[in-house]
Amino acid sequence: MNKILIVGACGQLGTELTIKLRELKGKDNVVATDLRGPVDLIADGPFEKLDILDKSQFHDLLKKYQIKEVYHLAAVLSAKGEQDPQFAWRLNMESLMTVLEAGKDIVEKIYWPSSIAVFGPGTPKQNTPQDTIMDPNTVYGISKLAGERWCEYYHDKYGVDIRSLRYPGLIGYKTLPGGGTTDYAVDIFHKAIAGNSFECFLNENTVLPMMYMDDAVKATIDLMEAPIGKVRVRSSYNVAAMSFSPSQITSEIQKHYPDFVTRYVPDFRQQIAEGWPSTIDDSVARADWGWKNAFDLPELVETMLAHLKKEIVF
Ligand code: NAD
Ligand code: SER
Repeated sequence: MNKILIVGACGQLGTELTIKLRELKGKDNVVATDLRGPVDLIADGPFEKLDILDKSQFHDLLKKYQIKEVYHLAAVLSAKGEQDPQFAWRLNMESLMTVLEAGKDIVEKIYWPSSIAVFGPGTPKQNTPQDTIMDPNTVYGISKLAGERWCEYYHDKYGVDIRSLRYPGLIGYKTLPGGGTTDYAVDIFHKAIAGNSFECFLNENTVLPMMYMDDAVKATIDLMEAPIGKVRVRSSYNVAAMSFSPSQITSEIQKHYPDFVTRYVPDFRQQIAEGWPSTIDDSVARADWGWKNAFDLPELVETMLAHLKKEIVF
């Protein structure tokens, strides 16, 4: 069994990926690392504090645990990135280069997520293809696009087995998001459950691609387990599940909570969202390694509300 190390394991995605990978591979085979933590949900297995900007600390951990696979998730996300672009660039790029370099001779397989933020205002908005115009206008999107090019470069030039997905906005009930433009689609559930109204920072008709967390975790592990010959794209794969606007998710929640109300007060994140696609064509991922989502909007809403309601009861 290859030993796995996760960088950024206490985040929205990292927590859920750590839980699932430990379930599948055994607790002791999955080392969670983060600047902070451990958070309670992943405190049941090996954990190390790691600043991924500290290369020697990273290499010490690779050696200590004989790591063969790295999931590198640490990043500054889209909205937070605009507050300090220099730092977002530094963290997102330097950390990826550190991990890719380790892929040359120490680590056998690497996972690194990209994002729909690699697309920009010039990209076709509907059914955005795998290969198309990419003109991101956020520091986050620019760093993800540059990262994709580096991933393909390290694969082609040095044979590094790097795999990547362009996630849409991720929505789950176990964790809170860390500073993205799609975060509203998690926050809205917490407000509905608490019986409060919701103030949305996007306008009511802004349609963005989204995905339930279980689908995101499944896509990630499916891609990492796919036979090498099936992974033809070494920049990053489009993956999709559903697309909706704030008013559409509000209507779906109102089927369960008829009195629930959303008010729209768009801020700087509206402009970021306007540069992103509304719907994604993920036919290449479906054809290459069999990607298929399980959750659509009604299932997402039902599942999120059921789980969050339970948490409040206990
Ligand atoms: P998050 O902000 O919730 O988590 C990131 C984690 O990285 C945090 O726990 C943070 O403490 C940690 N971290 C920050 N700096 C670090 C450092 N120097 N060293 C080690 N750890 C550090 O982010 P997330 O939503 O879990 O996203 C994970 C990855 O998935 C990111 O690369 C992100 O770009 C990508 N992604 C996420 C989404 C989404 O909707 N959540 C969508 C597309 C892509
Ligand atoms: N959900 C992420 C964000 O909004 C997309 O990468 O930043």
